[in-house]
Amino acid sequence: MHSLFRVLFAFVCLVGTGVFAYSETDCNPINQTCPADAALGTEHTWWFNSTLDDTLWNMTTGDIDYTSTGADFSIKTENASTLLVSNFYIFFGVMEVHAKMAKGAGIISSVILQSDDLDEIDWEWVGYNTSAVQSDFFGKGNTTTSDRGGIHPVANADTEYHNYTSYWDKDRLEWWIDGTKVRTVNYSEPLTVYGKNYPQTPCKVKMSIWPVGIKGQSIGNIEWGGGYVNWTDVPFTMSVQRLRVKDFHSGKEYKYDGKTGTYESIEVVSGNSTAKQEIEKTPSKTLAQKWDDLSEGVHIGVYCGAAAVGVIAFGAFGWWCHRQRKNGRLQRALDDGQNGAELKSLEAYKLQWRQSEWGQKSYQQVPNT
Ligand SMILES: *[C@@H]1O[C@H](CO)[C@@H](O)[C@H](O)[C@H]1NC(C)=O
Ligand SMILES: *[C@@H]1O[C@H](CO)[C@@H](O)[C@H](O)[C@H]1NC(C)=O
Ligand SMILES: *[C@@H]1O[C@H](CO)[C@@H](O)[C@H](O)[C@H]1NC(C)=O
Ligand SMILES: *[C@@H]1O[C@H](CO)[C@@H](O)[C@H](O)[C@H]1NC(C)=O
Ligand SMILES: *[C@@H]1O[C@H](CO)[C@@H](O)[C@H](O)[C@H]1NC(C)=O
Ligand SMILES: *[C@@H]1O[C@H](CO)[C@@H](O)[C@H](O)[C@H]1NC(C)=O
Ligand SMILES: *[C@@H]1O[C@H](CO)[C@@H](O)[C@H](O)[C@H]1NC(C)=O
Ligand SMILES: *[C@@H]1O[C@H](CO)[C@@H](O)[C@H](O)[C@H]1NC(C)=O
Ligand SMILES: *[C@@H]1O[C@H](CO)[C@@H](O)[C@H](O)[C@H]1NC(C)=O
Ligand SMILES: *[C@@H]1O[C@H](CO)[C@@H](O)[C@H](O)[C@H]1NC(C)=O
Repeated sequence: MHSLFRVLFAFVCLVGTGVFAYSETDCNPINQTCPADAALGTEHTWWFNSTLDDTLWNMTTGDIDYTSTGADFSIKTENASTLLVSNFYIFFGVMEVHAKMAKGAGIISSVILQSDDLDEIDWEWVGYNTSAVQSDFFGKGNTTTSDRGGIHPVANADTEYHNYTSYWDKDRLEWWIDGTKVRTVNYSEPLTVYGKNYPQTPCKVKMSIWPVGIKGQSIGNIEWGGGYVNWTDVPFTMSVQRLRVKDFHSGKEYKYDGKTGTYESIEVVSGNSTAKQEIEKTPSKTLAQKWDDLSEGVHIGVYCGAAAVGVIAFGAFGWWCHRQRKNGRLQRALDDGQNGAELKSLEAYKLQWRQSEWGQKSYQQVPNT
């Protein structure tokens, strides 16, 4: 019900065909005094094949299903939706998502940047057309007109990962597909053409799949979505392989000075962002680093009586660790263990395993289990 409410609330902001602003915001700095926004303050690539760090990401609606190639955002039941929101903001920057859209009339896949005062930069895939993506932007949630959207051809957008990149600075917005720039909006254009609508305040990343083709919607909405959702076709799935986000500022947080919502009014508070600290703390998910992660986990194996077992058991243990890790439980154990003194004493053990042929074999097999 919560998600449906969110979607329905968003519908209220829609005027005309193909204009859809995501209207959720906790505190709008244009109307209120709000807490500072936590900055990303760095650049990072998230691979969506393993559990996202929940201090950086908030799955506010629905679940993610992780696969070996990425994460599936699915609508599995009638009227369901899925929304992932970053806990960090960027104040100008780059967002590069490698995604496969969901196929199906009335289903919208989206990856957007959105600020607290409803500036917005969008990629949206409308499920009836698997050969196109739409670009769009909003300023201060102004949906008076429906003329900001763009439609761009993409081959097999539902079955192949493509690189959708948004570039955003104070002078211009660009949308790129697989290395080709498909659209530019200069700062001055929205000013002269659309009112004061250039997105210019710190934005979060939001990823969502939701149904627009449901009863109670305007003809305009239903048409934009390509008709009603056929609920016998569930699940509808958008997949995300990876996401690179670059913040053009490197501070700790962003404060609105006053209620103008202009970029000049944004104060960049210096310091290391908590997101950056978290990223630097969290092991990356490369194969080599995963090996290290598993090795650090050997101390847990002591609990399991690892000292008593042979190399075959190590293989099984590696598999077990991998499973646990997928479930996010090992991650916590590792985090706990990172400060543990027993870790150092197991360095030799770790080395032995790394050099052992059997260890290598079980390591190689881990990704396939
Ligand atoms: C913020 O103020 C504007 C006009 O000043 C108003 O239209 C809008 O509804 C207000 N939003 C909130 C969340 O209060
Ligand atoms: C996650 O989002 C939900 C819904 O917006 C919110 O209630 C909750 O406080 C958020 N959690 C964190 C850790 O930010
Ligand atoms: C999908 O979008 C592309 C690009 O705009 C367009 O050429 C094609 O005709 C559209 N297909 C459908 C089924 O509307
Ligand atoms: C994705 O596209 C952007 C923009 O062209 C480019 O900078 C980036 O390197 C591309 N990413 C990959 C992995 O090719
Ligand atoms: C945007 O600005 C660039 C130079 O800053 C200019 O070359 C380009 O023509 C402008 N585009 C539009 C659509 O006005
Ligand atoms: C909202 O957009 C409309 C049309 O695009 C424009 O006329 C109006 O000035 C804008 N409103 C604000 C507050 O910028
Ligand atoms: C889904 O939403 C539509 C429109 O609000 C409603 O008519 C329908 O009963 C809902 N279906 C379910 C299963 O909740
Ligand atoms: C819905 O999809 C099912 C299975 O794909 C199909 O048999 C049925 O005709 C579709 N219903 C409508 C109204 O298109
Ligand atoms: C930021 O972190 C670096 C180490 O990663 C440290 O050298 C530096 O002093 C920190 N800066 C601030 C402002 O805390
Ligand atoms: C996720 O994918 C990346 C890139 O292909 C890879 O380096 C990493 O090992 C994978 N992680 C897992 C847990 O499969």
